[in-house]
Amino acid sequence: RRAVILDCDPGTDDALALWLALASPELDLRIVTVAGGNAGLARTLPNAAAVVGLAGSVVPVVPGADRPLRGAFAGERAVHGEDGLAGIVLPPGPPPVQAVAADAIRELLRAAPAGAYTLVGIGPATNLALALATEPALADRVAEIVLMAGAWGEGNLTPAAEFNAASDPEALDILLASGVPTTLVTLELTAQALVTPARIAAMRRLGTGACLRAACDIMSAVPPSRRLGGEGHPLHDPCAVAWLVAPELFGARSAGLRIECGEGPGRGRTYIDRWGKMPTGARITLPETLRADGFFQLLGGRLARLP
Ligand code: BDR
Ligand code: CA
Repeated sequence: RRAVILDCDPGTDDALALWLALASPELDLRIVTVAGGNAGLARTLPNAAAVVGLAGSVVPVVPGADRPLRGAFAGERAVHGEDGLAGIVLPPGPPPVQAVAADAIRELLRAAPAGAYTLVGIGPATNLALALATEPALADRVAEIVLMAGAWGEGNLTPAAEFNAASDPEALDILLASGVPTTLVTLELTAQALVTPARIAAMRRLGTGACLRAACDIMSAVPPSRRLGGEGHPLHDPCAVAWLVAPELFGARSAGLRIECGEGPGRGRTYIDRWGKMPTGARITLPETLRADGFFQLLGGRLARLP
């Protein structure tokens, strides 16, 4: 069982990723840290608490950054709505812990032996970067970092950049420099986890629990992606959790990675070197293919176990 610190910005797909993590016995979720991103922190924090509460979990939910290391979060209202959950209202969750995410992460790492934790980042990487930047020696407590971020081709926030990478490129750069083995779940991978009406209908048939129902309502409320041809929308963040729970669903390779931190139209671009053409930069694991039917079976089966 992996001890996991999960950092998020719920976020419709973040909500599903949280439920998948909470429903998966392979993962021991120790803390959920929250940043602004898809919506402001004033929305993402109560959203995270509500998602955790609906699952009947008592895992601490801790507030973090309401802005990236530079500038401000752009928000992603077109996908997640003003409220961050595409208008689906959940019962309020338990009150968030009175602490700051980066401090809470450092505290857990300090008390742990080497390689004890897996960090999962499914929002702007600000909180995770703040934790490691102020005490870099703590990186040895982390066995692995799994991030939903970046793309080897076109972005979704700008032509050059994916939303999480573009939201805080400096933070992503800090994580890459930590030397911790990192897996990057990109837009090309998550495009294969396409939510269609048929897949939602199949998931609805699996049960009547509140989390499964809310997950299906959320997926139904997200508009189809024009970028992907309008057939459905990509379920980005649950792919990062699925990578840890069911790696056999993925095909992956090793690749090089650099992130563009300059101002201008390329800001937040992830230069992903799949073919050994970029001698400098970090080495990452890059999942490239996903068995989508297996992924949706995993997601539905696990969410059906929740209250
Ligand atoms: C990422 O951006 C957010 O809108 C999603 O929650 C996901 O983490 C996809 O680019
Ligand atoms: Ca997210």
